[in-house]
Amino acid sequence: MKKKSKESLQNQSDINKKDFDIDNENNENNSDDEANKSGSDIEIDIKTFPLKITMIGNASVGKTSIIKRYLENKFGLNSTEATINALFHSKKIKVDPFTEADLQIWDTAGQERYRSMTKNYLLNANGIFIVFDLCDEKSFNDLDSWLEDIKDTIDENNVIKILVGNKSDLSDIKITNENASKYAKEHDMKYLSVSAKDGVNIESLFEIMGNDCIRRIQDEQKRNEEEGALNENGQRITGLSGQFENNINIGDNNDNDGDGDKQNKKCC
Ligand code: GTP
Ligand code: MG
Repeated sequence: MKKKSKESLQNQSDINKKDFDIDNENNENNSDDEANKSGSDIEIDIKTFPLKITMIGNASVGKTSIIKRYLENKFGLNSTEATINALFHSKKIKVDPFTEADLQIWDTAGQERYRSMTKNYLLNANGIFIVFDLCDEKSFNDLDSWLEDIKDTIDENNVIKILVGNKSDLSDIKITNENASKYAKEHDMKYLSVSAKDGVNIESLFEIMGNDCIRRIQDEQKRNEEEGALNENGQRITGLSGQFENNINIGDNNDNDGDGDKQNKKCC
């Protein structure tokens, strides 16, 4: 999804002016244009990536609290009730001057009785936070079963997973950074320790997720472009000869609108 946005160059010091094709030479013919461009609004294209982000993990590890801290900058000890089924939230964040992520965040219930429901929220996810409580060994030991649920439900190659150790503000930490990082590495995830209570690393958590998801989507799009174009029947046009390869269906692997219609299209 692309939209026009007016950005003041004066507020965008990090934008390379060349990107806007601004001619800074003193050219009389363009003097009016230059006057308009120099200190005022310029239209730029912003591309928005809708991203489905799902948060899973044992009951009481702090999933709802992390989201509440991120969206409302609020925290209350014992103020959250156990989540029933799942809750939906959204927030747009700017990844760079030309790109924004529309985070569609699903806060799922950790209680065992909702487990089969929770799996449904993994479908078509672009990113998954797997949360444990740094002071609760069981929540760490149970990570295997959460990863198993992911494996059973979706193609892991299509998703960014981030391991989150919450409650870093507490003193009786049972899971060391070293152990958590090792586990994350073994399972192809990034790891971040956070505190919903103190707000530590909460912003970064969502920024990293947004960035990584968009990069993966862009890489996938690039790969598809490099591999070849399709004709209207889904046949690939190979090289300059214009010959078609049959029964090859390359799709945008990302179900950006969250409706599940594209997830299963895979290249070759
Ligand atoms: P379910 O909805 O049942 O799956 O639980 P949840 O993972 O959403 O946990 P929730 O956010 O409801 O938090 C559970 C308890 O942990 C609450 O009493 C929170 O106040 C507390 N809590 C959450 N995050 C933190 C944190 O960073 N530090 C501390 N000290 N307590 C936290
Ligand atoms: Mg909850």
